Amino acid sequence: MSFLSDLGRKALFTFDPETAHGISIAALKSGLVPACRLAPDPRLTQTLAGLTFDNPLGMAAGYDKNAEVPAELVRLGFGFTEVGTLTPRPQAGNPKPRLFRLVADRAVINRMGFNNEGHAAALERLKRLPKTLMTGVNIGANKDSADRIADYVAGIRTFYPVARYFTANVSSPNTPGLRNLQDRESLDALLSAVLAARDEEASRAGGVRVPVFLKIAPDMSEGGLDDIADVSLNRGLDGLIVSNTTIGRNGLTDQRQAGEAGGLSGRPLFALSTTVLAKMRQRVGKDFPLIGAGGVESAETAAEKIRAGADLVQLYSCMVYEGPELASRIVKGLSALCDRERLGSIRDLRDTRVAHWAAQPLA
Ligand code: FNR
Repeated sequence: MSFLSDLGRKALFTFDPETAHGISIAALKSGLVPACRLAPDPRLTQTLAGLTFDNPLGMAAGYDKNAEVPAELVRLGFGFTEVGTLTPRPQAGNPKPRLFRLVADRAVINRMGFNNEGHAAALERLKRLPKTLMTGVNIGANKDSADRIADYVAGIRTFYPVARYFTANVSSPNTPGLRNLQDRESLDALLSAVLAARDEEASRAGGVRVPVFLKIAPDMSEGGLDDIADVSLNRGLDGLIVSNTTIGRNGLTDQRQAGEAGGLSGRPLFALSTTVLAKMRQRVGKDFPLIGAGGVESAETAAEKIRAGADLVQLYSCMVYEGPELASRIVKGLSALCDRERLGSIRDLRDTRVAHWAAQPLA
C-alpha cells in the first residue's frame, strides 16, 4: 500500500463511517485517487451471460448507490461495477447512525435502508457514461411501495438503455419484508414479471437482451436454496449473486458493535457466503452464471470463491479497510496465481472446491 493511500485511509478512519464514505466518493469524483494501470490479462477475461468482463472482480452494490463514480471505480481496476440499490422514488433510508465498522473483525454492519436519490437522478448520470463501461444496475423497491414487484419492473424499464446487466435485489435485511420475495411463490411472481418486462424491452431495443441477475441472502435453509434454484432455472433467470449481508453474528470479537441491528459483511461473512455459493453451484449445474460476494479481501479469497463455484466475484466491505488500491492488488494477484499454477484461464479454478464448501453447515 502506498504511503499516500495509507495516510488517506487513516484519515478517513477519524470520521464516522458514513461521512468517510461520502469523502471517498468525493475523492474519486475529484480525480484525487490515482487510476491504476493494469496490463490487460487475457487469462482473466471471460464472457458470461453474453457480456465480456476484462477481469472477474467487481465492485458490489451499495458503495455507489447513486451512480456517481462507475467510471472511476472501473479505473481503479475493477472489471465491473454495480450501482444501486435504486428505488423508483428517492428515499432517505433509516435514521443515522446506520453504518458501523467492526475494525477487529474486518467487518461492517449496515442498516442503511436503501437511501438513494431514486431512478431519475441515477438515470441522468448513467446516460452520460460510455456504453462500453461494464455497469450493472441493482434495482429494489421503495419501503412504502404499494406494489413491490411493480417497482422492480419500473427499474428494468427505466434503466434498460443504460444497464449492461440488472440485479434484482431481494435480499437486503433492512427493508422490512423484502426478503419474503425469496419465497418460492413470491419469487416466481417477481421473476415472471421482471423477465417479461426485460423481454419486451429487448424487442423494443432491436433484440439487445440485457441479462437479469438475482441477489440472494446468505441466511438460507437447504429448502430455501432448492426453491430459488428451481424458480431461477425454470424462469430462465441469467444468474445469481450470492450473497448479500447476513443477519447472523457468528464469529465476532467486537461484542459491543455486534449488537447493532442490520446486515453484517466483510471477513466474518466469507465462510457462510462461500458455503451458500457452493451449495447453489451444486443445484444449478455448471453452466449457470454465479457471482460470489462476501468477505473477499485478497486474491486468495477471490480465487477461493471461484473454486467454490463463482464465475465472477464482488467486494465492498474490505475496501473500507484496505483502501482503493485493493482492486488492482487483487487483479494483479489473480494474474500471479495464473502464473504460479500455470493456468490458461482463471476459470480453470472454477468448481475445484465445490464439494468441500458445499459440505459446510449453513448458519
Ligand atoms: C451493502 N450491500 C448492498 N447490496 C445491495 O444489493 N444493495 C445495496 O444497496 C447494498 N448496500 C450496502 C451498503 C453497505 C454499507 C454494505 C457494507 C453493503 C451488500 C454488498 O453489496 C455485498 O453483497 C455484501 O456487503 C457482501 O460483500 P462484502 O462487503 O463482504 O465484500
